[in-house]
Amino acid sequence: MPDQSDALYTRHLETLQARYDEALTAAGISRAVIAAGDLLLRHEDDQAYPFKPYPLAQQWLPFVPPPGTFVVVKVGEPPTLLFPAQKDFWHLTPQLPGGNWRMRWRIQEWQTDVIAGLRDLTDSVVAWLGPQTRGLDVLGDSVALNPAAVLNPLHYARAIKTDWEIHCLEQASRSAVAGHRAAAEAFHAGQPEALIHHAYLAASRQVAEEEPYHSIIGLNESAATLHYERRCFEAPSVHRTLLIDAGAQYLGYASDITRTTTSDDGLFAQLLQQVDELQQQLCRQAVAGTHYPDLHDETLRGIATILHDAGLCRHDVDTQLAQRIPQVFFPHGLGHLLGLQVHDVGGHWQNPAGDLAPPPRHAPALRLTRTLEAGMALTIEPGLYFIPMLLDRMVKDNADHGCDLDLIETLRPFGGIRIEDNLIIGDGASRNLTREAFAL
Ligand code: GLY
Ligand code: MN
Ligand code: MN
Repeated sequence: MPDQSDALYTRHLETLQARYDEALTAAGISRAVIAAGDLLLRHEDDQAYPFKPYPLAQQWLPFVPPPGTFVVVKVGEPPTLLFPAQKDFWHLTPQLPGGNWRMRWRIQEWQTDVIAGLRDLTDSVVAWLGPQTRGLDVLGDSVALNPAAVLNPLHYARAIKTDWEIHCLEQASRSAVAGHRAAAEAFHAGQPEALIHHAYLAASRQVAEEEPYHSIIGLNESAATLHYERRCFEAPSVHRTLLIDAGAQYLGYASDITRTTTSDDGLFAQLLQQVDELQQQLCRQAVAGTHYPDLHDETLRGIATILHDAGLCRHDVDTQLAQRIPQVFFPHGLGHLLGLQVHDVGGHWQNPAGDLAPPPRHAPALRLTRTLEAGMALTIEPGLYFIPMLLDRMVKDNADHGCDLDLIETLRPFGGIRIEDNLIIGDGASRNLTREAFAL
């Protein structure tokens, strides 16, 4: 960990300790054991899925914990780390990183028996947080397994990032932006999707299993598949569009960035510019106090305006909204919370108790229904797509759709547009980590 971030990390630990003290005390529990988790083997196989530590364990640590790591938190005391230093000649022995962070922790390394370490810590009811794993049974009746009364306030609070977490998100955006630059170059050089992905990984300095989500790299018509997962090794005969939605991780914190690039200089290029302008306007409006569903509605109005001005739909904005025409071209939500999970927890929560505020009926895919607060990290990702399934359904179900189907037909080969940035919400103005990284 670089020295200049020591102070950020120390304050981060203080914030976490305060959150846990409050949540545990309110639940009448004095200790939490947070399990990073174990390797998970594939069915009837000796090969494991890539390991992703449980986010609540990662949140405490300034390194990526290996399987078998535990964090133990006791009200009013410094945290304890149970670190697996198993010696095994088949595998790399996990190494505990050095640094000033160690001064804030009690550290116990275990080689063969984590159970003993956990048993020693058990003097009362324990909240066990995380995947069920080794060590759980030894605690017997004194365990409350993932109690909602403890988890709900912790998850709700995760939406507000500490300065340390913002530092991590900033690093994650920077790595991804280096990858996005390389991907755009590979597109202009006529590379196929798989090699654009390789260029992305190399420039963002990660291997595929480290990506925070399965990155989406769609050429031409494939840009219309929202979560397009194939990566072809064959290049198409012409490169019209690249839609790349790809991130990176820094100490478990994700970036989630989308850029659309085109070789076109006609209507599609014009639409791309208009969606980009709409996206930047929405980013400016995303400040503390904004109700996020209102911003989603603003996006629907913006898409309707673009469709009307481009001659794609002759209906005015209000008529389009009444008929849900913008949702045919923009069927997903404006964005979501971002953090240790790419779609961070708590987006639909009204309060720390976990009561839900579901998305409105006209925006069922909206992942964030909260009013924005300073320190929240989230995405702003409007899109405009030509999705055959949705266009066909519109034509079938709505005789008065008002859309110019011939003009739309000329745009289908381009697939679609999405532009996605990562924001840290502020009072009056927010930080756009993605555009900051592109400006470096
Ligand atoms: N990459 C998935 C999303 O943008 O939500
Ligand atoms: Mn996203
Ligand atoms: Mn994305």
